Amino acid sequence: KDENTKYKERLYKANLEAARFFYKNLKASKVAVNYLLSRGIDYKIINRFGLGFSLNEWNSLLKYLKKLGFKDEEIISAGLVINSDKGIYDRFRNRIMFPIFDIKGRVIGFGGRVIDDSKPKYLNTSETLIFEKGKNLYGLNYVIKNKSANSIIIVEGYMDCIKLHQHGLENVVASLGTALTLEQAKLLKRYVNDIYICYDSDAAGQAATLRGLEILESVGLNVKVINIPQGKDPDEYVNNYGIEEFKKLIDEAIYITDYRILKAREGKNLKNQFDKIQYVNQVINILSKLKDDVLIHHYSEQLSNETGIALSVIIEKINKSRTLSI
Ligand code: UTP
Ligand code: MN
Ligand code: MN
Ligand code: MN
Ligand code: MN
Repeated sequence: KDENTKYKERLYKANLEAARFFYKNLKASKVAVNYLLSRGIDYKIINRFGLGFSLNEWNSLLKYLKKLGFKDEEIISAGLVINSDKGIYDRFRNRIMFPIFDIKGRVIGFGGRVIDDSKPKYLNTSETLIFEKGKNLYGLNYVIKNKSANSIIIVEGYMDCIKLHQHGLENVVASLGTALTLEQAKLLKRYVNDIYICYDSDAAGQAATLRGLEILESVGLNVKVINIPQGKDPDEYVNNYGIEEFKKLIDEAIYITDYRILKAREGKNLKNQFDKIQYVNQVINILSKLKDDVLIHHYSEQLSNETGIALSVIIEKINKSRTLSI
């Protein structure tokens, strides 16, 4: 083995030992366990996902890993401590710890959530030799174990992912707080053809949904959008209404084109001439990117019925902008 491979193996090992340490801490901390229980997370899923807790101390993990024989330099490279001019100290303190696994099941990093209102709410391992955020998806290692999954649901948060697994939806991954990347989309395409996006219903989540759609589409995935009613994320929705109601949202998931049209329609009053023209042009723009003539006809007719603009005008304009973009 070359030096680089050996070095990486040390980083995997350091992360694994850290996960074990956090896990033991959690079992010993009433406050941390109670936090998870209060959020509706049960013991079984704590164990399955290897959740843990980082102590409210400056160097408990550092001391622990040094005792196991890890060098400062390895612990720094593993992203587990912060290296400042005043010395090194634990990166994660007083947080619920979510180990992040790669598809081979190795611990490559962590997300850590505060148990009070301090900021930042979540802290993630910085980029390291073995942890590249944009190349991994939280939970994917569990999804691919279950070979029967023929679709995957993407959510924003760790909690959303875990909560849905706990209720038996074992095809859920989280995008790790960053915008979805092309690498992540390609990774998903290796396992399934059908994807559901289920981001938070806040403005940030909606914007991320639209960006994510394009990337998923670009690698040839069939994408549908699960719309969570106002102001909620999947975790909160399941807490409030139960998993059966969430499954109904999956059944009601809409195709990307419908989602884009819905977004274009939002906040507009079609009785207002200016709004209407803007809406029609936006939808024409959406439709002119479609390849299937039957679909284009279907949506054009819908637009015509909705706005009273003649179908022939809509089709003509779509054809014009399709020619332009060739
Ligand atoms: P949210 O703010 O929606 O958090 O961020 P959440 O997952 O619903 O968290 P809870 O329910 O309050 O525990 C979605 C995701 O964005 C990333 C995390 O991955 C989080 O799960 N994030 C968020 C960060 O990395 N840092 C932050 O400070 C906040
Ligand atoms: Mn959010
Ligand atoms: Mn949440
Ligand atoms: Mn959320
Ligand atoms: Mn017709």
